[in-house]
Amino acid sequence: MIDRLSNNVHRLLGGLLILLMAGCGGAAVNEGEDYGNILNSTEGLVLTQSEHEIGWGIAECTICHNLDNIHLVDRSGIGIDIDTIHEQVIEDGIDGCGACHGTNGVTP
Ligand code: HEC
Ligand code: HEC
Repeated sequence: MIDRLSNNVHRLLGGLLILLMAGCGGAAVNEGEDYGNILNSTEGLVLTQSEHEIGWGIAECTICHNLDNIHLVDRSGIGIDIDTIHEQVIEDGIDGCGACHGTNGVTP
């Protein structure tokens, strides 16, 4: 009985220690994918082959981009409502990307 109790106390303390450690190191905010201010190029938001070599010509954006992990931070400095875009893109899925990012070299 005493043994079991002390076992549980140990487990509880162990758990608390892990929580405390997470509290110290792990408070980083997830800012998602980051390519700087992507509006700062000749075509702006519209993708070009040279800035999108790896993904060019592929319609299935979500093979490489996790919709939860993009549109989290407005890096443009012009006050884009990034939260609304984040929500809208998750709702619309990959059919909606072209409206803002162009065709990505995919022929319709
Ligand atoms: C095969 C993987 C892959 C696919 C598929 C893909 N991407 Fe990408 N995307 C990347 C990578 C890698 C980057 C980082 C920039 C780079 O190295 O080309 C990127 C960067 C971007 C960027 C930032 C571009 C910039 O100016 O820096 C946008 C916007 C983007 N992708 C949109 C899309 C859209 C929309 C689709 C679907 C039509 C798509 N991607 C499909 C891999 C992919
Ligand atoms: C309503 C317009 C809009 C739609 C629709 C949209 N995006 Fe974006 N996207 C943006 C804007 C604006 C940025 C630049 C964010 C900033 O820095 O202000 C961006 C940035 C990105 C980036 C660069 C990383 C980042 O988070 O900044 C990727 C990758 C990307 N979009 C992929 C996609 C994919 C894939 C889709 C479709 C599933 C999509 N976007 C649909 C407006 C849009």
